[in-house]
Amino acid sequence: MSHESISHFMSEAMKLAEQSIPFSSPNPAVGAVIVKNGKIIGKGKTSPFGGRHAEANAIRSVHDKNYLKGATLYCTLEPCSHSGKTPPCTTAIIESKFKNVIIALKDPDSQVNGKGIKQLRKANIQVIIGDGSNEVNNQLMSYIYHRKTGLPFFSAKLASTLDGKIATMKNDSKWISNNASRNRVHKFRSKVDAILVGSKTVIIDNPFLTARRNGKLLKNQPLRIVIDSKGQLSTNYNIFNNDAETLVVTTDASSKKWRKQIEKAGHSFIIIDDKLKQVDLLKFAQSMSELGIMHIHVEGGGQLIGALMHHQLIIKLYLFIAPKIIGNQKAINMIDGLNIEKVSEALKLINTSYEFIKQDILIAGEVDYK
Ligand SMILES: NC(=O)c1ccc[n+]([C@@H]2O[C@H](COP(=O)([O-])OP(=O)(O)OC[C@H]3O[C@@H](n4cnc5c(N)ncnc54)[C@H](OP(=O)(O)O)[C@@H]3O)[C@@H](O)[C@H]2O)c1
Repeated sequence: MSHESISHFMSEAMKLAEQSIPFSSPNPAVGAVIVKNGKIIGKGKTSPFGGRHAEANAIRSVHDKNYLKGATLYCTLEPCSHSGKTPPCTTAIIESKFKNVIIALKDPDSQVNGKGIKQLRKANIQVIIGDGSNEVNNQLMSYIYHRKTGLPFFSAKLASTLDGKIATMKNDSKWISNNASRNRVHKFRSKVDAILVGSKTVIIDNPFLTARRNGKLLKNQPLRIVIDSKGQLSTNYNIFNNDAETLVVTTDASSKKWRKQIEKAGHSFIIIDDKLKQVDLLKFAQSMSELGIMHIHVEGGGQLIGALMHHQLIIKLYLFIAPKIIGNQKAINMIDGLNIEKVSEALKLINTSYEFIKQDILIAGEVDYK
């Protein structure tokens, strides 16, 4: 199977998988279709966390189980072979007497990692790997990164002027990007586990950080996370409303009284200390990963994004560049604190894409830390 191609049936499986992002988290969002005599006879996607896997849902969708004998199963990720919250998918596939299983990607999770493929082959099922591997690799980027590194996948969004500013020297930033770009941001929000901002962004912009369409809240609301080492934020800010949960990341430098107020407002806090009385961002990332948070989308500001990049935590950047100029050294930089001295040492974006959104340009790419 060529790594460049994707079959019609695997594309269908990917469409199903997309609907499970991020509801399945921290399980991978998988799609599965069952094909017999060239026709799709069953479909399934990963249920919200704790529920059935995509393969089991696809099998359940076929009422006459005799029809499964000799069929082909297309799934975007290797079926699991271990018991967790649900029984192993390989057992259901073997018992259903499938003839072929086509898989886009091997599951990097240490509990699976080839064991599912081995079990299927042992039961004389033909297994083919690689149909749509590039596409599924992109779709499951945060899951794969999380399982391989033990860290969440951090992406970041910034709206900047042509001169790389995200706000004026008076901290005015509404609005740099256009309406269509901002609608796109709401779409991103609905596809991630958490949104992260720095305390200064909350103090200045007072954002809601909820995912909305035409002003209405979407079904999935990501966890809102704010870094506030010293406990400066009052619970009157919009991020402490009841539209979504908020987690405040703080240090011992914040007062117990302030932490109680956060809880009283119905939200939570976590203490991540370091010697400088500022949140240790690596420890923060590790603890989020342990909580099962796979994808954190950072929405500024420039200091926080710079500090995360200093620790090589930001993997993907989405830059909305508007054809505007602010022209002041003291205006807020898009990314701050990296202090790179030579152009030859500048961080580069790789695997970039460029898209016009009306007059704005969206540049997306992965940060190359090499
Ligand atoms: N156009 C846009 O896309 C956009 C998006 C967001 C914000 N903005 C604008 O950007 C401005 C705010 O951005 P900003 O860059 O001034 O501040 P910011 O990034 O919002 O806030 C600074 C944050 O960085 C944290 N931080 C900095 N260095 C750190 C380190 N080494 N380790 C751990 N934490 C660290 C601080 O933590 P502590 O507080 O805990 O010390 C604080 O939470 C506002 O004017 C806002 O309007 C624009």
